Amino acid sequence: MTIEASAPAGELSEAQRMVREAAREFAEKRLKPTARKFDEEEKIPRELYQEAAELGFLAVMFPEEYGGLGLDYLAYVVAMEELARGNAAFQVGVTVHNSLVCSGIIKFGTAQQKEKYLRKAAKGEWIGAYSLSEQGSGTDAGSLKCRAAAQGDCYVLNGSKAWVTNAGFADFFLVFVSTAPELKNKGISALLVDKGAPGFSVGKKELKLGIKASDTRELIFNNCRVPKSQLLGKENEGFKIALTQLDNGRVSIAAQAVGIAQAAFEEAVAYAKQRRQFGKAIAEFQLTQAKLARMATDIDAARLLTYRAASLMSRGARCTKQASMAKLFASQASNRICFDALQIHGGNGFVREFPVERYFRDARITEIYEGTSEVQHLIIAREVLAEAR
Ligand code: CAA
Repeated sequence: MTIEASAPAGELSEAQRMVREAAREFAEKRLKPTARKFDEEEKIPRELYQEAAELGFLAVMFPEEYGGLGLDYLAYVVAMEELARGNAAFQVGVTVHNSLVCSGIIKFGTAQQKEKYLRKAAKGEWIGAYSLSEQGSGTDAGSLKCRAAAQGDCYVLNGSKAWVTNAGFADFFLVFVSTAPELKNKGISALLVDKGAPGFSVGKKELKLGIKASDTRELIFNNCRVPKSQLLGKENEGFKIALTQLDNGRVSIAAQAVGIAQAAFEEAVAYAKQRRQFGKAIAEFQLTQAKLARMATDIDAARLLTYRAASLMSRGARCTKQASMAKLFASQASNRICFDALQIHGGNGFVREFPVERYFRDARITEIYEGTSEVQHLIIAREVLAEAR
């Protein structure tokens, strides 16, 4: 069953509607049917990313000259929502590649960096990963310790990074390192590090509660030499790049939360209509109806906030507050919706034969990565207070 997403479809352009249809078809045919298997195997075959690349999903916003679809941020977000509805563990890898890494190269990269990375990234030959967090610096990202000391025409990296999505199979990594520890967050730089760089290795795969099929690992740098030409943006100005990219990323995580919620909602509606107790379908009970009404309203509100932030991004406006609002609301709503979808399923919701069990686990991370809900509150409050000055 497909419930027509309550997206303001009439407000989407022809190109945005087309990319949504293509993403929906790919999700229905290739992602939904394999999601449980990949969740249990805790792995997604690289070929699936290749298939997504052939349809343009690894380069929705890249300029056409680099092999991208040349579409705007809203088109990207509607596509990412559909991919998450099919399999959030797959979608997160695609969004990290697109909106955390490659959009940074498009915005801050040199001509040589764009030439080196974007074409291959569009084709899926190379996949990107983004690495800001460390064991000791998650929310307080500006206190990171991984050191990059300038030496001749190279930086020498020492230290480690944590919880890096795509790390096991990524071909290039956008890594945030300290180039001037005494300057704290004003001494951070962004470096593009290639897989196989001498002194660079990836650690063991993390075993997670949800999005289990996504590949999350530590990065380890031991006297790893990276040419200075791999610096993205200016030396010591990397923290602003990290935060700019997170504004983008947070809107894609909001889209992920909406996609998971939509999938859980569809399952809940179908189940409530066919499950009979006390001689009638449980959808006829008002307590079920109240849950469904809340879920539907939450999804609409989350989607509208997400599309608003994406539309602002499409216009090139800074939208830190709107991105954080979308991420905060959509991730919390998604958790509420998955909780209720599981509750409507009763005992069947607690076993793996029914996908709501996976949606419930997958939704949890949307309140944690790319900034916890607590950080989103902090960012929104800062913005609101600054506006009131
Ligand atoms: N865009 C551009 N610049 C920004 C910005 C933004 N959104 N937000 C702040 N800045 C600028 C500030 O203006 C400031 O500039 P000046 O020094 O010129 O004044 C500079 O950046 C530093 O900003 P703050 O002083 O606000 O920095 P802070 O140290 O107080 O930290 C924070 C702010 C919001 C708490 C930030 O550390 C943060 O967002 N933390 C959460 C980290 C996070 O989201 N991690 C996710 C990891 S990635 C991930 O999860 C990927 C994955 O696997 C899927």
